[in-house]
Order: sequence, then C-alpha cells, then structure tokens
Amino acid sequence: MLLAVPLLGETLDAVTLGFGLAVIATVFLGKKDAGASSEDNDDIERKKPMMNWTLAARAEKMNPSVIREILKVTEKPGIISFAGGLPSPKTFPVEAMLEATQHVLTHDGRASLQYAASEGYGPLREWVAADLAKQGMRVSPDQVLITTGSQQGLDLVAKILIDAGSRILVETPTYLGALQAFTPMEPQVVSVDSDDGGVDAADLQRKAAGARFVYLLPNFQNPTGRTMDEARRTAVAAVAVEAGLPIIEDNPYGDLWFDAAPPASLASRHPDGSVYLGSFSKILAPGLRLGYLVAPKALYPKLLQAKQAADLHTPSFNQRIVAEVLKNGFIDRHVPTIRALYKHQCEAMLAALKREMAGIDFTWNTPSGGMFLWARLPEGVDAVKLLPRAVDKDVAFVPGAAFYATQADTRTLRLSFVTASVDQINHGIAALAQAIREYPVN
Ligand SMILES: Cc1ncc(COP(=O)(O)O)c(C=O)c1O
Repeated sequence: MLLAVPLLGETLDAVTLGFGLAVIATVFLGKKDAGASSEDNDDIERKKPMMNWTLAARAEKMNPSVIREILKVTEKPGIISFAGGLPSPKTFPVEAMLEATQHVLTHDGRASLQYAASEGYGPLREWVAADLAKQGMRVSPDQVLITTGSQQGLDLVAKILIDAGSRILVETPTYLGALQAFTPMEPQVVSVDSDDGGVDAADLQRKAAGARFVYLLPNFQNPTGRTMDEARRTAVAAVAVEAGLPIIEDNPYGDLWFDAAPPASLASRHPDGSVYLGSFSKILAPGLRLGYLVAPKALYPKLLQAKQAADLHTPSFNQRIVAEVLKNGFIDRHVPTIRALYKHQCEAMLAALKREMAGIDFTWNTPSGGMFLWARLPEGVDAVKLLPRAVDKDVAFVPGAAFYATQADTRTLRLSFVTASVDQINHGIAALAQAIREYPVN
C-alpha cells in the first residue's frame, strides 16, 4: 500500500515503514470515516493545520530494507523465487504445535496468558543452556535471555554497545538485518576482508583496536552460505582474545548442517567476550518470533534492561508452547528431517547450476548447510540490472550488493534453495542462465 504523506514530503510505503509510522501516516492522511460525506471530509482536510514532524536523527538513519524494495519486482504470479530468506513451510511442525498448544492451555492456561519475567520462561532457558552444553558451551540458564526473534537480540546489542561514531566491525558481505539494527545507533561500520572461509584474521587484527565489537556469522552465513573452519575460528578467537575485542556471534543456521556439524562456536573460545545469538526460527518456525541470546554475567543486566524497555518480555504463551514441543527430544527427531530436505534441495540447485551455466563465467560456492548459496556473475554483468531481465523470465534472486556495508561487489547474488521445488529449481536456473546469456555486455 502506498501512502502519500505530504508532511514528510514523499511517498512512503506502509509495509516498509513499519506499523508505527504507517499508523502516523494514516492518521495524518485523515483516512475517510465511513459516516462522513466526501464534502465534509474535503472541508475537514482544508481546515486541518499542516503538521511538522521532526524526526530524530536516528530515525533519519533508518532505511527500508533494500531487499524488500528489490523483492517488489519479484511479486509477480508464477515467478520462481530464489530470493526470499524464508525457511520451507514444509518443515513447520504443525501437529506438534497443535498438541503442545492444547496441552499448555489445558494445564497452564492462565499463567501462559499472563505477563511474565523479562528473562524468559525458566524451562525454556534451561533447555537452551542444556542444548548449548551439547555443543561444548558452558552456559548457565541465568545467562540466557529469551528474545523476540534473534533480530531483537541484534537490536538490544546495538542499544547497549553502540554510541554515535563507535567503530563496529562486520564481515564482507554481512547480514542486512544486522546492519539495519546497528545503523540507527550511528556507528562507523568497518568491513573486515573476508573470503570463502569467513572473516580474515589478519585484517581483523589490523582493525580491532578501539572497535566496540565484531559481528560474526560462522555457520552457513546469510547471505553467502559459507562456514568458518576450525583453523579460522581458532585464529579469529585468538585475535579477539588478545585485542580484548568483543564478538557478537549470530548463529540461526548452525543446526542445519548437511553431513557434519560445524566446529565449536566462537563464543566457546571467548566466553567472557562474546554475546551469542540463537533462534527457533529455522528449526521450528519463524512466526513464533522466538530467539535467545547468551551473555556474560557482566553484560546481562544491561541487555535485560534494554529488553524490558523494548517489550517487557517475549510472549509467554509462545515460550511455553515451544518448551512443551521441545520436551522429550523432539528437536533430535525433527531437525534431521529439515537437514535432509535442504541438503536434497541444495544438491538439486548445484546440479542445475553445473548443467545450465556451462560455458558461462558464472561461479558459485558449495555450502555445507543452511539455506543459501552465493554466486558471481561474469565480468560486466550487474546483478541489480540483471534482476528485471530474470524476472521477465519468471525467476528471481537477491543481488548481493544489498549485503555489503561498504564497497559492494555488484556481480554477486544470493540464491535460496529451500523454498522452490526441485522442478522449479531446474526451470529457474535454466531461466537464469538464459537471462545471463542475453545480458548486453559491452
Ligand atoms: C543471520 C541472521 N540473523 C538473524 C536473523 C533473524 O532471525 P529471527 O529474528 O527470526 O530469529 C536472520 C533471519 O533470517 C538471519 O538470517
């Protein structure tokens, strides 16, 4: 929906603005009341004083998600989309959720609908601590803060660690949603050189001095799908420990490995200097909006205060349902089915790329888990300009430029392999290859 907002002097999109500003816009548009005649309304419109909204500097820094903007062109019926960042809905455990919801309402109905502790629901915090222990992290449930998605964890971290002008370090490229969470706090964002194995330890060392933190995604990274191996983790953690550099480790995809679990977390190597973010979005369902962070005891109270100010607590109803679902090892039975599906889909996309891109200077990586792969177009082909041409052929992707904090590589693109069927993957990759072949390179 497009709303003309003369107050702000431009046309704004209610969806990308978010609900709050959209409501403001609707209010000041004087949305027509069903009872009033249009003449009455015109009269009211004329008499209404012009409002001057002065936006906070931080609101000026907020940008609509570039991806959402780009994806508007992909909202065409029949399009094969490799663009979205959504998990496959086939993996959502509807039956288990139904049973757990009934159980919670029957046995715990009133408590589950009441306000609750900001830290989160005790049994869920205990489950998180026990699950991380299996991965070699020594975490007390007191260090676990349940968040409204791990996206909220990024927002809380930004609020308590970034002042205007603070230097923060990010991978090249990095998760766009993190940049969106950090930017309103007005940091100086510095990109650290990165390769197929993640962030470069030597460049990290050069840039570490005085930085508030480095934001890292070691497992099946969004957008590239790359993973840091053991040696890189050791080197990166050593740099962080030596420089006293805090690490914000974001790990929503770590459980989605295909053949072997990734090496131990960075947080386990730098426990007093890390905030670790986890999520139930990719292993259960994103609509639950359930994530968590694990913080050292020294930092936890500030994150908790920021959480209280943000939303008092994450919905207790959802937390109890998920705690019920997780009982008796459900995840150990459920997650392998997601891994098998995504591995199969990824293999289908890799095979289609090999077949269809023959003879084109198109390169791609081979992820060992997660939802995405990362590709690079031939010299002279710009992914943003290629997108409408691909959409004309009924296939969409996300141009990689959106994920760079500085100096974008305009030849890169992200392909999600999880939501399209194998048949769609085959057709979509063939169409993409055709669009690249027809791209006018001068
Ligand atoms: C790297 C990364 N971090 C955080 C998030 C936010 O996830 P959620 O808030 O659903 O837990 C996402 C979502 O796609 C992501 O890709």
